[in-house]
Amino acid sequence: MSQSNLSARGIFTSKFGIIAAATGSAIGLGNIWRFPYVLGESGGGAFLLVYLLFIIGIGLPVMLSEFIIGRATRMNPFGAFRKLAPGRPWFIVGIMGTIAAFMILAFYGAVGGWTLEYLYKSVTNQFAGKSADEMVQMFESFRGASYRPLLWQIAFMLLTFLIVIAGIEKGIEKYSKILMPILFITLIVIAVRSLTLPSLSDKASPMAGLKFLFRPDFSKLNANVLFDALGQSFFSLSIGMGALITYGSYIKKSDNMGSTALIVSLSDTFAAVLAGVAIFPAVFAFGLNPQAGEGLVFNVLPSIFNSMQGGYVISILFFICLTVAALTSAISLLEVVVATFSEELGMSRRKASVISTLLITLLGAVAALSWYVFKDFSVKNINDVTGEISAFNFFMILDYISLKYLLPLGGLLIVIYLGWFSPRDKVLKELSNEGKLKVNYFKVLMFLVRFVVPIAIIIVFLNEVGVF
Ligand code: PHE
Repeated sequence: MSQSNLSARGIFTSKFGIIAAATGSAIGLGNIWRFPYVLGESGGGAFLLVYLLFIIGIGLPVMLSEFIIGRATRMNPFGAFRKLAPGRPWFIVGIMGTIAAFMILAFYGAVGGWTLEYLYKSVTNQFAGKSADEMVQMFESFRGASYRPLLWQIAFMLLTFLIVIAGIEKGIEKYSKILMPILFITLIVIAVRSLTLPSLSDKASPMAGLKFLFRPDFSKLNANVLFDALGQSFFSLSIGMGALITYGSYIKKSDNMGSTALIVSLSDTFAAVLAGVAIFPAVFAFGLNPQAGEGLVFNVLPSIFNSMQGGYVISILFFICLTVAALTSAISLLEVVVATFSEELGMSRRKASVISTLLITLLGAVAALSWYVFKDFSVKNINDVTGEISAFNFFMILDYISLKYLLPLGGLLIVIYLGWFSPRDKVLKELSNEGKLKVNYFKVLMFLVRFVVPIAIIIVFLNEVGVF
């Protein structure tokens, strides 16, 4: 690709640029909102253990594979595979990734909207004087009995759109360099308060929450827990759909992609575990149910703020940072769709941004109203392991298909391509910046990419459909 073409697509000008952008994509609602509630539903510590194993053994190699493919081709996921394997069907990874980005951003926008509502509630001091049970009520009546989720979802999508259209992603990353550390600090403050809450009893104590989070109860380990952990690890790291192929395509040839991937995965995992430490001690201390589902953190956090000195200010600070974290993830999702529409369908970036935002917002409107207007639109899901029957509304269906199927399958295809269909010396050359960097982990990486990752993903799938 010619130099002019390259600079037209833009490039990350410093190592910190790509780390900030990729971390911005990775850290978001996935860590703070989704990780705790999925862990809660899956029974705690055993989930955490599997999750951590998946991050190291599967997530990290997939992330690095995406960076390698992105930087080698300087293309969107779709174009990347067409360039690497012309005339062969690998571009399907790009199609799946675009569909996944579409579906994820639809429900992500809804949760981004919940975050804005809670920022508004913080500013207008609506948590004051409410009991833990009243907080649960408050969330349910917001989500299940008003159009507010829709208004806020539209607002969130509009913000995402404006950032992408103005081409100020880099500007946002500058802010997020300041706001991410503040998010971590507020999380630590919240965790400290959560851990020091008074106990009602042995079972209703912060300690019980910590045990729930960190002590694996292997009797809880089943096919569904593995499946949940796999989907969550892909979602949290932003992998499996080409978002990081797209970001990889903007990485400088002199950057060390290996250390970048490591730093991004570590910070993302740290954020998730920290969110767990902030949430679960309080869930138990307030006698709430860890299996509350999507509402969990919105139910719990306000009560923690209520019980702390300066809670008013901290809640505002926290929800501002969370909104920004959500936005830096949302722009990377939108970017996949926009890059694909503009580079593959020959639209201008502006037109591609307008069209994709409109379509996603429309789909997201149904997601946002899934507990209200569209609450009867649901499918029954029977848990193969426990036999439990649950109803999946539209929001949950989007989440289920994209996270549990599209992302892991995308990741599977990406590593199979890199491990089995790309010349090994070319991969090494790309990873080592033409031999300038020492990549002593190369053999391990290739072993993971060729064998461990594909086999692990296939086992988790077969296990889920009940083959074993
Ligand atoms: N990783 C982001 C989060 O945790 C969500 C995301 C998924 C972003 C996939 C991009 C691609 O919030």
